[in-house]
Amino acid sequence: RRWQSSLPQLEHVDRSDEESGGEIDWDNLGFGLTPTDYMYVMRSSPEDLGAFPRGELCRYGNIELSPSSGVLNYAQGLFEGMKAYRRPGRAGYTLFRPEENARRMQHGAERMCMPAPSVDQFVSAVKETVLANRRWVPPQGKGALYLRPLLMGSGPILGLAPAPEYTFLIYAAPVGNYFKEGLAPINLVVDDEFHRAMPGGTGGVKTIANYAPVLKAQMDAKSKGFTDVLYLDSVHKRYLEEVSSCNVFVVKGGVVATPATRGTILPGITRKSVVELARDRGYKVEERLVSIDDLIDADEVFCTGTAVVAAPVSTVTYQGRRHEFRTGPDTVSQELYTTLTSIQMGLAEDSKGWTVAV
Ligand code: COI
Repeated sequence: RRWQSSLPQLEHVDRSDEESGGEIDWDNLGFGLTPTDYMYVMRSSPEDLGAFPRGELCRYGNIELSPSSGVLNYAQGLFEGMKAYRRPGRAGYTLFRPEENARRMQHGAERMCMPAPSVDQFVSAVKETVLANRRWVPPQGKGALYLRPLLMGSGPILGLAPAPEYTFLIYAAPVGNYFKEGLAPINLVVDDEFHRAMPGGTGGVKTIANYAPVLKAQMDAKSKGFTDVLYLDSVHKRYLEEVSSCNVFVVKGGVVATPATRGTILPGITRKSVVELARDRGYKVEERLVSIDDLIDADEVFCTGTAVVAAPVSTVTYQGRRHEFRTGPDTVSQELYTTLTSIQMGLAEDSKGWTVAV
């Protein structure tokens, strides 16, 4: 267990109800990394036969990996993103559908030939990580504690094959708005050179390997003043897929449409929740192929994701032409944002049973 012994040692977990995260400026959190106190680590070795026998909290810090680990050499890794909010007027914190993240990790692990924690193990580990880092959960209305579960092939492997050992790890960081625009509408550009995923590939699972390949397009877009990139499908170069870090929706005449997840698009938990909430509110919701022409013709466009929440899009530039969309009050996207975040933050009754108290 050499890897384990190289972890930053746990002195003790401070379970005091400290309310403050030190000198942190809660009003300007953004999505930068503020290191917190503890992370959760659990390993699966060959003798564990695909199970994760025991996990523990340890001090947040660097980890040691073999230079030949599966994750470093062959990107055998997955991640998740989740948020814990402070509960208004009550002690404790709220998670949003954490068992969905656990199941998505299990599904991705199957695709990437990795063992995965059980749903109970995953959710308990998330809760422990929140409690151990409770002083970093932002005050109500200032943001959330972002949880980043990772699953990686940590064992050494030289020839291309599944790694002999796996590590599940969760770290946490307080976050505010994802985009530099804050809650203001964002400006996207459609990239018709680069694609995010292809049929038969891994676009539909949250593997780490889906994210670095978008950096070039994203950097290029940012250098031209756009917020981010909207990708089209790699076969027809015509149908919307997703934005670098989130799913996309279009609204036309009260009909809400989002690309169906058929293997190339990440099945977002916010996406799925927004689909359900929109239907509950009487909108017709279509999960189907959404073409670039549908987008150009839309009244509204918005993006969803754990980090992004539900971000309105004011412009999309495609082949050099800028298309504008409705944003602001009285939009469907604003209505769905408020409905969703009220549940997530514990401000509205959760009739769906989506929130989990910590
Ligand atoms: C999230 O929304 O939590 C994600 O995992 C996307 C990430 C690129 C920030």
